[in-house]
Amino acid sequence: MEETILQWDGEYTVVRYDRDAGAWVFIAIHSSRLGMPVGGTRLKLYNSPRDGLLDAQRLAAGMTYKWAAIDFPLGGGKGVIALSHPLERVERERLLERYGALVESLRGGFGTGADLGVGPAEVDTIARRTRYVFCGAPGEGGSGDPGPWTSLGVHAGMQAAAGEAFGSPDLKGRTVLIQGTGDVGVPLARRLAESGAKLKLADVEAGRARALAKELGTEVVAAERVYGEPCDIFAPCAVGGVLNAETIPKLRCRVVAGSANNQLETPEDAERLHEHGILYAPDFIINAGGAIAFGGIKALGMSETEARERILAIGATLKDIFMNAEGRGESSLHAAERLAQHVLQRG
Ligand code: PHE
Repeated sequence: MEETILQWDGEYTVVRYDRDAGAWVFIAIHSSRLGMPVGGTRLKLYNSPRDGLLDAQRLAAGMTYKWAAIDFPLGGGKGVIALSHPLERVERERLLERYGALVESLRGGFGTGADLGVGPAEVDTIARRTRYVFCGAPGEGGSGDPGPWTSLGVHAGMQAAAGEAFGSPDLKGRTVLIQGTGDVGVPLARRLAESGAKLKLADVEAGRARALAKELGTEVVAAERVYGEPCDIFAPCAVGGVLNAETIPKLRCRVVAGSANNQLETPEDAERLHEHGILYAPDFIINAGGAIAFGGIKALGMSETEARERILAIGATLKDIFMNAEGRGESSLHAAERLAQHVLQRG
């Protein structure tokens, strides 16, 4: 872990071993250049503490880019609670409270909210011990839940990507494969069903995918089969690292547009997608809806209407990115990173 901390280009990492829960807690602060570092907290089982630390570092860097690309005066940070074994409800609650106290001890050095494994209920538990929790916005699915907002942005981004790849933003009749029917996957699937898209749903917890498929009258795909499954648009909405040297050659889609953070295992995977003729909607652009709602309304005092407009504008941002990438013969990731870098350098 020493190596992992030393090689990182971020500002600092808070590391705590929570003895009672046998869990490692990491708060990675990547950049405070544009403002207070804000990012969700992820709670999940990891194979090793180092995996949790790496995830925190990469997710925090992703937040720096996410805030910069939408030109919000907030910095990049992320919390990871790396469980070594599943916890009972009460143990989990205690752990989240202790985590809240840790966040509070940073005195505004980090603000947090929901992410994978941390939904509205968990956010409320963390908020018992710290004021540096920004819950989601009212409306669109209640208190601490950024998922519906994220799905709104992914839907808009998917339309832009369809416009670029198929010549029309209309998703009617397009086959969309959603990997992960969780906090974002579910509201996204409902929106897509309304748009007349044909859905294929997959989840590592097969029951979750099945329940949603039943509700929407759509197809289920086994989680281990998603990469070879034919579709127009592949939407990763679960964990990161799913686009890599092994999976990309198997993909049978024209577009990748989903909500997961850090979808690419390495930056070279953007080139790899490009070479395979697959249009990639950079994750930190298309998945910014939750961050816009959460950061905009709660941290920056935007109105709900303004937040919604900014989320829908993700479509136009992506369109520009695709155009710039095309013009320069570069990957969409490159074009998106240039956009974020421009804001970061301006400071
Ligand atoms: N966790 C989500 C994301 O990574 C939403 C979120 C953003 C939550 C910012 C808190 C802070 O975008």
